[in-house]
Amino acid sequence: MKFFIDTANLKEIQKASDLGVLDGVTTNPSLMAKEGITGKQNILEHYVKICQLVDGDVSAEVVATDYEGIIREGEELAALHPNIVVKVPMIKDGVKAIKYFSQKGIKTNCTLVFSAGQALLAAKAGATYVSPFIGRLDDIATDGLQLIEQIVQIYNNYGFKTQVLAASIRHVMHLVQCAEIGADVATCPLNVITDLLKHPLTDIGLEKFLADYRKGNL
Ligand code: G3P
Repeated sequence: MKFFIDTANLKEIQKASDLGVLDGVTTNPSLMAKEGITGKQNILEHYVKICQLVDGDVSAEVVATDYEGIIREGEELAALHPNIVVKVPMIKDGVKAIKYFSQKGIKTNCTLVFSAGQALLAAKAGATYVSPFIGRLDDIATDGLQLIEQIVQIYNNYGFKTQVLAASIRHVMHLVQCAEIGADVATCPLNVITDLLKHPLTDIGLEKFLADYRKGNL
């Protein structure tokens, strides 16, 4: 299972990378705005900085919603660095653009996926990744993890190469259950990755080991 970090914050990306378990980064316009990155040139430069920090795929999202605009923006993003994955929304022109990019060898991440039918369409168009949003489904009292199960099953049935990138992960249980189901990738905030470290019995056990060591080595 690949771990991506879902942020545009360079310090957080560096921290996850330092842990040695980071395989890539996902961003979106909201995450860029949260870091105060505005204006086309600044946004493009920020993607390059992220690519320099991480040796793995970096999803950069288009903001155009028409076919020509998505193609233009996507090609510009893809030219920034070989690790850029063009993130395209699940809309009609987005699906057409994903087909175009896949034929050109440009990697894509189909985002804002909330149903198995949408995921099937993204795979048919040749998306490299599909991003179902678990947390946002849970927010509206719908089982986000069940969607991951459905998509993994459908892709396995037909051998689709599109990777299931579980997104909008809010906590460790989401992440662990995605791993059980067999999602290819999980993208989550830094705290979810570092929360994987935590168990009170680990802390208690370590404290006792060190106390016993100190007793015998005074
Ligand atoms: O990768 C998608 C993610 O950024 C959405 O997460 O927590 O805003 O639903 P959230």
